Amino acid sequence: MIKVESVSGLRALLNDKKNIVFIPTMGNLHEGHLSLIDQATLISRTVVVSIFINPAQFNSSQDLEKYPRTIGQDIALLRPYENVIIFVPQLNEIYPETPNINYDLPPIANELCGKYRPGHFNGVITVIDRLFNLIKPQAAIFGKKDYQQLHLIKEFSKVSYPTIEIIGMPTIRDGNGLALSSRNNLFEKEQLIDISFFNQSLTNIAHHAQSGQNYQESILFGIDALKERGWLIDYIEVRRSSDLKVALPGDRHLIILGAANYKNIRLIDNIEFCIDGSN
Ligand code: PAF
Repeated sequence: MIKVESVSGLRALLNDKKNIVFIPTMGNLHEGHLSLIDQATLISRTVVVSIFINPAQFNSSQDLEKYPRTIGQDIALLRPYENVIIFVPQLNEIYPETPNINYDLPPIANELCGKYRPGHFNGVITVIDRLFNLIKPQAAIFGKKDYQQLHLIKEFSKVSYPTIEIIGMPTIRDGNGLALSSRNNLFEKEQLIDISFFNQSLTNIAHHAQSGQNYQESILFGIDALKERGWLIDYIEVRRSSDLKVALPGDRHLIILGAANYKNIRLIDNIEFCIDGSN
């Protein structure tokens, strides 16, 4: 493992490297990130992992401030990975000047999470554009937990970086079905069981939809049950998994996506499913 902090240092290291596989992160690494890195090391001998908390994608300064910062722990987790280059830039390395955050994203960027976090995806694409341009990877790997982000990065890359393959990897969950997320660390240990109720609700709705039941009713039922347990719901919706458009009768490959707040901490999750019961 090699750690580099400057853009010039990273450029020098990557100078003669081909087939780079890149994993952008905001740190506070967990098994979900490690599964992406394991996949990357299967594909390439040169793997770059960036750790950069990107202010451009946060809607509130409070949210940015409380985002977990655990760089020492992150580096310890990555130490066993011989071929991994960790890029840990300071703010001015990525944004030497205030960035012009103004990408023309597809309308879906303003729906689902985009509706509740205006400008968030523009901020994500801003940093992805900088990092792709710098690292010029052959492939970049993202977790499917951030499904809408993955979709928008795929759409952006098709046009701006058509040679980069965007790979989505399955969400890693704990024994209660809770999707691993850096934000889980903001909860007390004993609250982790409570927050897995969110995933259980989405799973129930997906099962109802798969068995042919009216999933709009199950969504309303699920939302009520979550509210009773103290959750504030941003949205729970079933969409087409291919393009995240509203599902129409006859669409079979679907995804239930949700975002909700528990004790002022926002969680997202999703489950892909197929209407005939198979996955
Ligand atoms: O998913 C994340 O951790 C971030 O949105 C990303 C892709 C690293 C961009 O800052």
